Amino acid sequence: MVDWKNRVYCGELTARNTGQSILLLGWVDAIRHHGNVLFIHLRDNSGIVQVVFNIQENPDIFQTATSLREEFVVEIFGKVMIRRKGTENPNLNTGQIEVLATHLNILARSKALPFQISEKAMVFGEELKANPDNVDEDLRLQYRYLDLRRPSMQEHFVKRYEIIKGIRKFLDHKHFIEVETPVLTKSTPEGARDYLVPSRIFPGSFYALPQSPQLFKQLLMMSGLDRYFQIVKCFRDEDLRPNRQPEFTQLDLEASFINEEFIYELLEELTVEMFRTGGIELNRPFPRMSYHEAMNRYGSDRPDLRFDMAFEEVTDLLKNTQYSIFQRIIKAGGHVKGFCVKGHAENLSKNVLQNEYSLKIAPSFGAKGMTWMKVVNGQLDSNIVQFFNENELTNLRERFKAREGDVLILIADKSLDLINRVLCSLRLHLANRLKMIPSNSFYPLWVTDFPLFESDGTKLNAVHHPFTMPHRVDFDIHNMEELLALKARAYDLVMNGEELGGGSIRIHRVDIQRKVFQALGLHHDEIENKFGFFLKALEFGAPPHGGLALGLDRVVAMILQLESIREVIAFPKNRSAFCPLTQAPSLVQAAQLQELGLDRHLKAEMMISELPEMPSQEKIDEPRQTFEKISQDQVHYIARLARLKINDVEIEQYQKDLNSILEYMEMLREVNTENILPMHHILNLKNYWREDVPTNAKAPQKILSNAPSREGDYFKVPQILEG
Ligand code: AMO
Repeated sequence: MVDWKNRVYCGELTARNTGQSILLLGWVDAIRHHGNVLFIHLRDNSGIVQVVFNIQENPDIFQTATSLREEFVVEIFGKVMIRRKGTENPNLNTGQIEVLATHLNILARSKALPFQISEKAMVFGEELKANPDNVDEDLRLQYRYLDLRRPSMQEHFVKRYEIIKGIRKFLDHKHFIEVETPVLTKSTPEGARDYLVPSRIFPGSFYALPQSPQLFKQLLMMSGLDRYFQIVKCFRDEDLRPNRQPEFTQLDLEASFINEEFIYELLEELTVEMFRTGGIELNRPFPRMSYHEAMNRYGSDRPDLRFDMAFEEVTDLLKNTQYSIFQRIIKAGGHVKGFCVKGHAENLSKNVLQNEYSLKIAPSFGAKGMTWMKVVNGQLDSNIVQFFNENELTNLRERFKAREGDVLILIADKSLDLINRVLCSLRLHLANRLKMIPSNSFYPLWVTDFPLFESDGTKLNAVHHPFTMPHRVDFDIHNMEELLALKARAYDLVMNGEELGGGSIRIHRVDIQRKVFQALGLHHDEIENKFGFFLKALEFGAPPHGGLALGLDRVVAMILQLESIREVIAFPKNRSAFCPLTQAPSLVQAAQLQELGLDRHLKAEMMISELPEMPSQEKIDEPRQTFEKISQDQVHYIARLARLKINDVEIEQYQKDLNSILEYMEMLREVNTENILPMHHILNLKNYWREDVPTNAKAPQKILSNAPSREGDYFKVPQILEG
């Protein structure tokens, strides 16, 4: 039995080891067979080294080596040698040397791989056989243990670990302690649905998995722990987006007797440290912007400030315009707003601006149209410029500080919200198209002064969560206008258009907390039932406190400049909240449901409320009012069927395109076709049936003579879809 204690890691070998006899353990990353010499790349978690098997030096070992395949696990003794001049491989850190094998033991074999793992070509300058980045993501997730063998993937987790290690060290210095909070608990509202866990001991009752440790961290402050943090899993059953997972990790923290400035300073210091781990230097202090300004200038509460193009309102400049569309909208109380694309007039032809942006892209974002103007030869130029007088054109140029070669994009509508939303999408679309977003640049921003409440048309909801302290506490819970105008002592940490974290100063007085619950329309019983324990705790002397939670997966993905947080989660769910590796969620046995009292419970519920109502004939005949929108999952599914790799941005775009087609079809329903004769197909659509007649025995032989593979009178085709 070989003593593995003395193993040497592949990636640590250098020219200084030349002449040493060493033991290596690892996976066969790639193989190159040259008649009398066989090379392999041997990989362990430190890197790769080339191992040489030479028939002349060691015929027996060479023979065994010929049976090696990718991902076999091997034990190799060998001697470190400097590579011959001209055969070095600068792709490898160990590319100056190779190991001449003197012993080979195959510890485990591997089946043929579902996708290539190797990321390093064996010969410098040669292409890889396949690019592992092009593999369908569900296949990668199904074989995640193979995907994670890829050195680039392992690096993500090494970096993630280093960042987390740094966080713990930093917070320890600041006198925070890490405390674990329950996973089987009661609902904590953060705006998503809860994942529920049935209780066996209390049949029909459920725990909720925490959407965040919000209530517990506040209880820890009430317990006098002063400064708490936790690296913690949170669970949210919500519609998945590229940067969302049903279970994700937060760096959650809370401190007592502090204000906003404490959090800003702490988080800025910590963020600078974390990004430094990834070799990124951030400047401090981070700029701050109110929610109102963010929405008004960028149409988003998480503006991407890596590029400019802030919005300007120009309604006041066009009050008397002759341009009828603007005139009509402004008269009806609407607005005109836009932004200036600096120096891109040449890249945005009239054709692109008119036929792509005005007619297609802006409407796909919800606008009824879009107006554009270019500064050419010192003048504003456009298809509608003749409707504006000199004064208006000069004022427009001044408002946007437009110079030669700039392009103005304008949207007019009655709804300012719609204008902001459309301009926000156009700004991002143009920035991507014109490659205006610098890579390797990071723009942190505090967004502050959020509204406390928002209305969904029927009731009020908390913009953050209901434990956030308002700026004023003397509000009237029945005055909707006043409630909607209230500002929260909340803040989000935003970077490059992504929300990295959010938090607030909390309500520490029971009377204010009750008032906020009441403003949210919660009845006395509901308040007691859901939050009674929490309100009771507030009655025993709660310190003023506040905190924040960072989405750790998002932070790590941002530092590593990766598109998706799934790349920094070892075993993530796919876009349908499904785990292709374990096939979770899965059905359970009836006996398990019975034990949990769930079979009875479900049946009883079904009898009371869930029995499907049979549609009446009247209902069936009613024209369908709404169509079912295509979800991102469905787009992904279609792409999978077509075996297309499709990224998150493309998925969103296809989803929008498909839904606008469906929307158009829906409009066609309203076209009046009365008295219009149905059109006939130009071909006679008749099916012809032909009886199977046994063919003359010689014919198949002839027909099949070129078939690559056959069985009896049939020729075989390769199976192309996996079962
Ligand atoms: P919030 O709901 O803003 O605040 O969450 C904090 C941060 O967590 C990340 N995040 C997610 N990451 C991945 N997948 C998800 N589904 C997901 N949802 C949220 C985001 C977000 O900014 N209890 C409060 C914090 C506080 O007030 O202290 C909370 O959870 O990066």
